[in-house]
Amino acid sequence: MPDRIPLVIDTDPGIDDALAILLALASPEVDLRLVTTVHGNVELEQTTDNALRVLHLAGRSDVPVAAGARASLIHPQPERAGHVHGAAGLGGVQLPPSPASVDPRPAVVALADLLMSSPEPVTVAPIGPLTNIALLLAVYPEAAERIDRLVVMGGSAARGGNVTAAAEFNIWSDPEAAAAVLGSAIPTVLVGLDVTLPTVLTEEGIARFAAAGPIGATAAAILQQYVDHARNAYGVPGVVVHDALALTEAIAPGTLGTVRRDVVVDTTLGAGRGQTLVDQRSVSTSPTAVDVATTVDAGAAVEFLVSRLASLDA
Ligand code: RIB
Ligand code: CA
Repeated sequence: MPDRIPLVIDTDPGIDDALAILLALASPEVDLRLVTTVHGNVELEQTTDNALRVLHLAGRSDVPVAAGARASLIHPQPERAGHVHGAAGLGGVQLPPSPASVDPRPAVVALADLLMSSPEPVTVAPIGPLTNIALLLAVYPEAAERIDRLVVMGGSAARGGNVTAAAEFNIWSDPEAAAAVLGSAIPTVLVGLDVTLPTVLTEEGIARFAAAGPIGATAAAILQQYVDHARNAYGVPGVVVHDALALTEAIAPGTLGTVRRDVVVDTTLGAGRGQTLVDQRSVSTSPTAVDVATTVDAGAAVEFLVSRLASLDA
């Protein structure tokens, strides 16, 4: 077995975050060393408790969870996403409480400790607002330099926004943090709406892992509210599991087709706030260029997710 990729997930569970965490736990290519939580879909206390409970659902309460930022860096996030993820963030599903406690270290300290002590390069997958990662850059720049790759769920090159006409939710939730992270020159893959929206997990796929056993059945139950929202909001017969696609790229580098682009985040307070302005005029040679995901084999990505989630009950 080739060396497993050391992985950290920075997350705001969140229905699709929960699926992404379960996908990582089902994937032998990665070693989930730490989960850091951030405000976003719901409040920090809830995202943190949700992360603990999702890990426990899969029998992995050994994975440490460290809580991070409870608010964006400068301007407050205008609203949470309880209407999409449910008031408690997991689609109305009450998972059993974890026997584990949250790590006593703040997320940026836990992340810096891991990065400075890991002999192998570490992949960090932020799938919520980028507040924790921006704070890491500011407080522990030497640790940030030890990140092998950031695989960020966020933004949009040519698909507009989902929380406003211009902005995708994670970037919109903390544009100043996103600007700092995407301008950091850390190797970054930006997994945005251009590739997540076409990657639709249908109810047939959900039924496959739901039938596999209790973990899959619980994952399907968590998803149900998301399925209903996707049908009502996007008119699609299935669910867009944004964060799980980002984790698929983290687990299997090269899954997504990417182009190196200069990316600017709109940090103004106008209608464009949180937009990722992706310069499509040329392939960038700048050290701060971002590998923007542009193509996906949606069928293969969905099969990867479904088969891996089903394996949790094997
Ligand atoms: O726009 C999708 C992103 O916003 C996902 O990370 C989802 O969990 C929400 O946080
Ligand atoms: Ca998320």
